[in-house]
This record gives sequence, C-alpha cells and structure tokens, in this order.
Amino acid sequence: MRIVLLGAPGSGKGTQAKRLKVELRLAHISTGDLLRAAVKAGTPLGLKAKAVMESGQLVSDDIVLGLLEERLADADARPGFILDGYPRNLAQANALDGLLARLGQPLDAVVKLNVPDADIVKRCEIRFEQEHRADDNPDTVRKRLQVYAAQTEPVADFYSQRGLLAEVDGVGAVEAIGDRVLAALRARA
Ligand code: AP5
Ligand code: MG
Repeated sequence: MRIVLLGAPGSGKGTQAKRLKVELRLAHISTGDLLRAAVKAGTPLGLKAKAVMESGQLVSDDIVLGLLEERLADADARPGFILDGYPRNLAQANALDGLLARLGQPLDAVVKLNVPDADIVKRCEIRFEQEHRADDNPDTVRKRLQVYAAQTEPVADFYSQRGLLAEVDGVGAVEAIGDRVLAALRARA
C-alpha cells in the first residue's frame, strides 16, 4: 500500500506511522526526519535547511523532492510506504503525482489526522521540555501552524477531489487513533 499521512505539526503523523509500518509492513518515510538527519550530519543540504526549519517555514521544494526520490529508491519502499510530512503544499502534491506516475506506483489512500490547535500547542510544549526539539518552542509552533493552514490545508482538498482522502479524529489515546487509521485504510483497500 502507498499512503500519505496528512496533519498539522504535532498531530501524530510520526507516532501513527510507526504502528502502520509494523502492521502493514511499509517503509516509513518522514521528510522531517530526513532533514533532521542531514542537519545533524552537517551536510551542505543540512546547513541550508537548519535555519529554515528553526523558523518554522518550509524547506525548498527541490531539496525535499531530492531527498524523497532518493529514499523511495531504497529496497524497503518497494512493497509500499507511508509518507509522513510530504506533500506539504500543492506544488509538492503535483510533483509527487508526477513522480509516482513515472514509477507506476500511484497512491492508495491519504489519511488526515484532525487535531485542534490547542492540543497541538500542548503536545509540542511537552516535547520541547523533554526533547528540546528546536522548532517546538511556542513561537515557532505558532508559525508552523500558520504555514500548515496556508500551504498544507489545500493539499487535503487536492486529495479529496481525487477521492483518496479519509479524515480521522486524531485526539485521544494513541492506540485508539491507530485503530481508527487502520479502519479507514481497510475501508479503502
Ligand atoms: P516534520 O518533522 O514533518 O514536523 P511536523 O509535521 O511539523 O510536526 P511533527 O513531526 O512534530 O508532528 P507529527 O505529526 O509527526 O506528530 P508526532 O507523532 O511527532 O517537519 C519539520 C520541519 O521540516 C518543517 O517545519 C519544515 O521546515 C521541514 N519539512 C519537513 N517536511 C517538509 C516538506 N515536505 N517540505 C518542506 N519542508 C519540510 O507527535 C507530536 C508529539 O505529540 C509527540 O511528542 C508525541 O509523543 C505526542 N503525541 C502523539 N500522539 C499523541 C496523542 N494521541 N495524545 C497525546 N500526545 C500525542
Ligand atoms: Mg513528525
């Protein structure tokens, strides 16, 4: 299966992708994790991305598409994948369409996790205290939510128009949300 997980920053994409990866035996591809790894490794790409990520803005479409293409070529992505954090704007959604058409691997489903902003702010506050992720400071979280509303929300409509979108309540216990996501995916399989 080829799945996109959509949702605001802190909505639980990474958390839910971990379970889907095990239950459905798919590769978990998080562009945020790929970028953070590049920042940590201090690669030229990582140096470029660091300040942009810390400001809560989106890294350039070219950079992220390059990382994604490279990752999709890995063997574990062959049976299928969960995209977490990509696409994040309409240009990326169109680029992904083109890329997957070339590979003959169209998407099967897009699941959007719906979580109110107030819960997101709380979740990121807790993680900021525990993990010190630079972009979880309250100002940057607000910026990330603005960028999401302006640039990523339209991606949900893009997939809804293609009949691929399922929306799931992303509030509650992690396991219960996972059950909802799996039920939504099974309904489309
Ligand atoms: P990215 O890493 O994708 O971050 P994000 O989507 O903004 O947010 P998170 O990863 O924080 O949230 P998540 O939905 O994965 O939730 P999680 O499971 O972690 O991107 C970071 C940056 O990289 C971007 O701002 C941008 O600069 C750049 N970037 C990435 N992709 C890009 C792209 N395609 N184009 C351009 N730039 C890109 O959960 C969050 C927290 O909540 C955790 O602490 C978790 O334990 C907790 N939690 C999860 N579920 C629950 C629950 N049910 N109840 C309570 N707490 C919960
Ligand atoms: Mg994440």
